[in-house]
Amino acid sequence: MELQFSRHRRLRSSASMRALVRENHLRAEDFIYPLFIYEGENIRKEVSSMPGVFQVSMDHLHAEMEDIAAHGIKAVLLFGIPATKDECGGQAYHDHGIVQEAIRYIKKHFPEILVVADTCLCEYTSHGHCGVVEGEKVLNDESLELLVKTAISQAQAGADIIAPSNMMDGFVAAIREGLDEAGFTEIPIMSYAVKYASAFYGPFREAAEGAPQFGDRKTYQMDPANRIEAFREAESDVAEGADFLIVKPGMPYLDIVRDVKNNFSLPVVIYNVSGEYSMVKAAAQNGWIDEKSTVLEMLVGMKRAGADLIITYHAKDAIRWLKEQ
Ligand code: PBG
Repeated sequence: MELQFSRHRRLRSSASMRALVRENHLRAEDFIYPLFIYEGENIRKEVSSMPGVFQVSMDHLHAEMEDIAAHGIKAVLLFGIPATKDECGGQAYHDHGIVQEAIRYIKKHFPEILVVADTCLCEYTSHGHCGVVEGEKVLNDESLELLVKTAISQAQAGADIIAPSNMMDGFVAAIREGLDEAGFTEIPIMSYAVKYASAFYGPFREAAEGAPQFGDRKTYQMDPANRIEAFREAESDVAEGADFLIVKPGMPYLDIVRDVKNNFSLPVVIYNVSGEYSMVKAAAQNGWIDEKSTVLEMLVGMKRAGADLIITYHAKDAIRWLKEQ
């Protein structure tokens, strides 16, 4: 009797055959590139834990944006590092805050590039928490007011998308109402709906200089052990008017990306965070992995898991490598 089995290898027989049956693809349009704008002059400083990622001052922004545009990146995510910090993060919602200035500059000189403004207070507060602090407590409702002010000032500066990341309850509802009242009904909210209290943010806290000065973020960011809680977070953000849902971090949470993709009908964004980037860079620098194939495999894995968009520090390299292929 003849053996009965399937010949899966038929569809893997050559590069052309594999390309013909490939299910997922990476495109330049998939990527959102994070940028750290440093208040000051003549600063272009590489983040030591994130080789290839730079904090730049406004006078270096033009060159940086030209490079971004030349790569074919269509969207940037802006973080500001202000010269001064205070208890209430006043520079986050200042008309001439560093992010507001950067947004105006980019929209004036690179109007075709979408500007996503990260809306949070931790880079702007002296204590490094994402909201208003009383004693050791991060207050929820009091923080919402400041976040709304921040979102409106970013929209006034010209931001195309508001991305609130502070994980206070009700932030989407509050920001939606605030934006609408200020006349910004057309500006979408990309909510960090499912954001875990993660060790993978370590290098970012160096890049954005926003590490909490006491305690941690576990009373507002999610417990990495939880899955059902992600449904609750996403559900309420959808109900409050979110237009995109972010899952963050990326690699260790691909199951959550798939859950969110299957259960909600909004575009899903994955944040391939700083620690994920640093691990790949460190291993590649040691010659332990091949950077190009590792990065492209990770990123296409995120698409396969259900991400429509990927926020990643690898964006420039990835686009270059995709063109080479
Ligand atoms: C601010 C914020 C953080 C990141 C993005 N926005 C840090 C944090 O929550 O502590 C992390 C991004 C990264 O690690 O790449 N709320």
